[in-house]
Amino acid sequence: MSVKDFAGKTVIVTGAASGFGKVTATRFHEKGASVVMVDKDAETLKSVAEQFADNALAITCDVSDPEAVEKMFSRAIGHFGQLDVLVNNAGIAVPGQPDEIDNATWSRVIGTDLSSIFYCSRTAIPHLKKTKGNIINVASISGMGADWNFPAYNAAKGGAVNLTRSLALDLGKYGIRVNAVNPGLCRTAMGKALVEDSEKAKRFIERTALGRLGEPEDVAPVIVFLASPEAGFVTGATVAVDGGTSASNGQPPMS
Ligand code: NAI
Repeated sequence: MSVKDFAGKTVIVTGAASGFGKVTATRFHEKGASVVMVDKDAETLKSVAEQFADNALAITCDVSDPEAVEKMFSRAIGHFGQLDVLVNNAGIAVPGQPDEIDNATWSRVIGTDLSSIFYCSRTAIPHLKKTKGNIINVASISGMGADWNFPAYNAAKGGAVNLTRSLALDLGKYGIRVNAVNPGLCRTAMGKALVEDSEKAKRFIERTALGRLGEPEDVAPVIVFLASPEAGFVTGATVAVDGGTSASNGQPPMS
């Protein structure tokens, strides 16, 4: 049994139907939190949320839509009465050369991976002020250095990293902490196409220090730690969870 050190706390996790979000919501729930699981994929969300006996609320919401975000928060706060932790995790990755990305795709990626963080965080502020709560944004190592062929994703994740710092500066006076995690390539639905191509996966693994790809179970505990009182003096930080990929200067291994 895990220690129920989030008992009495309410946590919102976006993108909770899959990957990091699903495992993160599960971890918080195991630690006693009331969990609001948010996703735009209603069907998958419903089946995932059914695994939680109580203290969980599933809300279908497209977090790139500011009005939908307002409604989602009203439901969440109406149900649990407070908010302690917001995990902005929902995201999409769309490949394409810069001259191939149309306006709709650009807006969809920026809306989902960057604007959603702003919409959810802004709406959370009055509630987090009351609890001196905190925000964790799931950015990416693509927010520190770019991937080839993902211009919108790279731009959004770079924005997510600096929005984390900006929010941390402005919300610190309320006792609200804001941090980010930067995962490397992990085995989730999003990483599937790369992970299942053994040649591509091998090239990614060669760029890690630890010689393997990541799992959602590598990322979720770091999010939970950042949300916990043990990280009480950590804000504006970006924690790489990438097996050492970003420790490299980008040159291939020399030995
Ligand atoms: P995933 O595809 O398994 O899960 C993402 C979830 O977000 C899905 O359930 C999806 O329905 C939901 N979602 C997408 N757009 C949404 C929207 N507009 N509103 C509400 N929900 C929405 O992906 P994964 O890997 O768990 O990704 C989670 C986060 O981690 C994303 O922000 C992603 O960019 C980031 N990340 C993932 C990496 C990886 O290798 N898997 C590496 C670095 C960062």
